[in-house]
Amino acid sequence: MTDNSTTRSTRGELVLSLRSVSKHFGAVSALTDIELDVHAGEVVALVGDNGAGKSTLVKVLAGVHQPSTGTITFGGKEVTLSNPAAALDLGIATVFQDLALCENLDVVANIYLGRELNPLRLDEVAMEVKAWTLLNELSARIPSVRDVVASLSGGQRQTVAIARSLLLDPKLIMLDEPTAALGVAQTAEVLNLIERVRDRGHAVIMISHNMEDVRAVADRIVVLRLGRNNGVFYPDSSNQELVAAITGATENAVSRRAGRRQAEQSA
Ligand SMILES: Nc1ncnc2c1ncn2[C@@H]1O[C@H](COP(=O)(O)OP(=O)(O)OP(=O)(O)O)[C@@H](O)[C@H]1O
Ligand SMILES: [Mg+2]
Repeated sequence: MTDNSTTRSTRGELVLSLRSVSKHFGAVSALTDIELDVHAGEVVALVGDNGAGKSTLVKVLAGVHQPSTGTITFGGKEVTLSNPAAALDLGIATVFQDLALCENLDVVANIYLGRELNPLRLDEVAMEVKAWTLLNELSARIPSVRDVVASLSGGQRQTVAIARSLLLDPKLIMLDEPTAALGVAQTAEVLNLIERVRDRGHAVIMISHNMEDVRAVADRIVVLRLGRNNGVFYPDSSNQELVAAITGATENAVSRRAGRRQAEQSA
């Protein structure tokens, strides 16, 4: 489905760097001393069990939460992401899991929601052309940009949300569970889309619980466990290693089963 071997070596400059980032909610430590580097033209998968801190990390980078301690360097400068608009202005775009699309509006309107070219006099033609161009560049399969979002499939909606996040040409795009609600063919399409976004030179952070998807598209796999870094892996790492890092146990039912499955597959 995806051939990563040709694109893996093209990663560019360091876009994002986190050092000792922690986030406490009262007595709860959601993140402790997180270190993370992301380069242009690279997909980094963020994986971990429920409550590992993935969404909190994405929200810190999206300007939704302020870190309790630590530094965030973006585009070579130390930054404070005080609110979502500040993060977006700097070039950090986020596709949240619920996508936040408007069902009753068409594709063009959704891509431009709140960012109309001329808010006083909507330039429908220019917006339609730009939306079409963007979707074409992504080789997105949307029948018509005048279709309302309510009529689109899950994969097509994800595509619209990703296109929307690319409108301001961000350096970094973060996707929270982009394939969680999708079938096999739609998942493949969205993974291809993520590769094309990476190949345009954007840095991508993708949260996923699906190890197959992660392996198919990620250049590096960063594991969080109980709010801490718990290893960096590559797509050729074994399921057993990955599951062990995620669950914090080398010998448990989950990793034994994953190991058996892998042994069966390679037999
Ligand atoms: N606003 C908040 N107030 C208090 N605690 C929070 C808040 N947001 C997250 N937490 C806590 O921080 C920890 C990490 O949560 P987070 O949502 O980041 O995990 P996650 O890795 O995204 O999990 P999941 O896979 O279930 O989405 C959890 O213990 C959670 O209860
Ligand atoms: Mg989450």
